[in-house]
Amino acid sequence: MELVIKNQVMFKGKFITIEGCEGTGKSTQIKLLEKYLKKKIKIKSTREPGGSLGGEQIRKLIFKKEEDWSPLTEALLHISARNDHLEKIIKPNLKKGIWIICDRFRDSTTAYQGYGNDLKLNVLELMQDSIFNKFHPDLTIILDMDVKKCLSRVKKRKSGIQKYEKMNINFHKKIRNGFLTIAKKNKKRYYIINADQNQLELNNKILKVINKKFKKNF
Ligand code: TMP
Repeated sequence: MELVIKNQVMFKGKFITIEGCEGTGKSTQIKLLEKYLKKKIKIKSTREPGGSLGGEQIRKLIFKKEEDWSPLTEALLHISARNDHLEKIIKPNLKKGIWIICDRFRDSTTAYQGYGNDLKLNVLELMQDSIFNKFHPDLTIILDMDVKKCLSRVKKRKSGIQKYEKMNINFHKKIRNGFLTIAKKNKKRYYIINADQNQLELNNKILKVINKKFKKNF
């Protein structure tokens, strides 16, 4: 059953997204958060681009080494991947009351393709608002950290450096600024947390936000 309030479809499950520049520790924090929430509710963690079979296929296309997508084509690929992910994984689970934690979502398109690659922000917003019928997360946590520190963490990763991680420091500064600007527009949904602290301290800060936001739901 779908409940519609103020033109927004409300689901039984809650939708949480974690955003931020590379190297801010999103993956570790998502694992810790999932472990905590599993004791209280049914939960699934997922990621973008990807998360569904089709979404993961599109992810491979986005990151294919021999392709040099234009910024607009790349944005459209991210949006296509998101559409598949929403239709096949996110919405069906939320409808069943299963909560979703997603590693990146719409705000990454605004930050990377809009602020980073200079696509028009209003075009990206209009496109996504129309396609996704103004579907937004219930909560978005932005992990924020000095860009130089982020990039030095990324260099130490065993998995190797991928497409956007190779971009210069100014690109990453634009992205950080993008996320911080997005967050200012809706203080009820966005929480910025300083990611420059140890994993457990950061986890505690995230849990504080979760408990404050969802205390009525546990
Ligand atoms: P990650 O899975 O390691 O976070 O890598 C995904 C990369 O894709 C990351 O550099 C951010 C980028 N990205 C976009 O540029 N636009 C998007 O809409 C999304 C979801 C991710």
